[in-house]
Amino acid sequence: MELVTGEVSKKKNRAVVLVHGGAWDIPDEECEDHEKGLDNALDLGAGLLQHGSAAAEVVVQVLSQMENSGIFDAGCGAVLNEKGEVELDAGMMCGDTKQWGAVAGVKVFRNPVKIAQKIASEGKGQYCFLANTYAERFAREAGFKPLLNKELICAREKRRYDDFLSRSTNYHTSHPFMKADTSWPRGTIGCIALDSEDRLAAATSTGGTPFRMAGRIGDSPLPGCGFFANRTGAASATGWGEAIASVSLCREAVFLLEQGMRPIEAVSSVLGKMYSSVENLDGQGATGGLILLNSCGEGAWGYTTPRMARGWVVVDQNQRFIKVT
Ligand code: GLY
Repeated sequence: MELVTGEVSKKKNRAVVLVHGGAWDIPDEECEDHEKGLDNALDLGAGLLQHGSAAAEVVVQVLSQMENSGIFDAGCGAVLNEKGEVELDAGMMCGDTKQWGAVAGVKVFRNPVKIAQKIASEGKGQYCFLANTYAERFAREAGFKPLLNKELICAREKRRYDDFLSRSTNYHTSHPFMKADTSWPRGTIGCIALDSEDRLAAATSTGGTPFRMAGRIGDSPLPGCGFFANRTGAASATGWGEAIASVSLCREAVFLLEQGMRPIEAVSSVLGKMYSSVENLDGQGATGGLILLNSCGEGAWGYTTPRMARGWVVVDQNQRFIKVT
């Protein structure tokens, strides 16, 4: 296993935002777009934090912009399922209130993370996670504007889907995160933030794995798995969803922060443990990526995939980092 990690800053910080645009073997020709997408996301996140926005609002606005960009596997750039449809999943959580919301299998809205935010604020503990047509009914009633599923299908992913159909393959949903085969797209997006009032938040959004079984739901909308935040930490994951869910990757990482571990050590520990404890049918260890932030504004990222699109901004120190390769 090759584990690559990095730190936001060893100092204690306020007003910090981290983003990821998926961990996989991002092709050279898509790196520039990924960097641009991250750059725009960080501009937005930093601006919102500077103007005093709450962390929960920042993570949702940043991911909405990334969903709209068409660059990543989310929103308008999502991969297609086995039936050639877009199915979107997203979840978000406020660390100070523990409010969370999530949606899965959304086919007619471009910003599932905003629907998840609305559920978090309106569900009042009676419902937090809505799926499929019921999530869509909620969104319609909440005033979100629906569109047709085909309007969410981008040309790049339609080409990839057609190419997949023409190949005979023993495809497994873990393969996109394991093999150096750039024809499989897999770029879940995530954002975590600490605002100037020391509130943490996390959000994750995805089109899931390419050619996923219709109705299959991965880790991204599951609290503790694809996203998690409390008063100690915030985390967002990307990678093989079934494996991430089986080790509760984000909750596990924040638990290690609660035990006093530094973010970079916690990231290494949980990704290493997932790799060594979960295998796919070919006997390969489970791979993925993670961003993690504690309540002092110390953050880290890590991945066991060939590449990961990741970036961060520390607003009060005017520091910024973006890397895809
Ligand atoms: N990590 C995204 C998924 O497995 O759906």
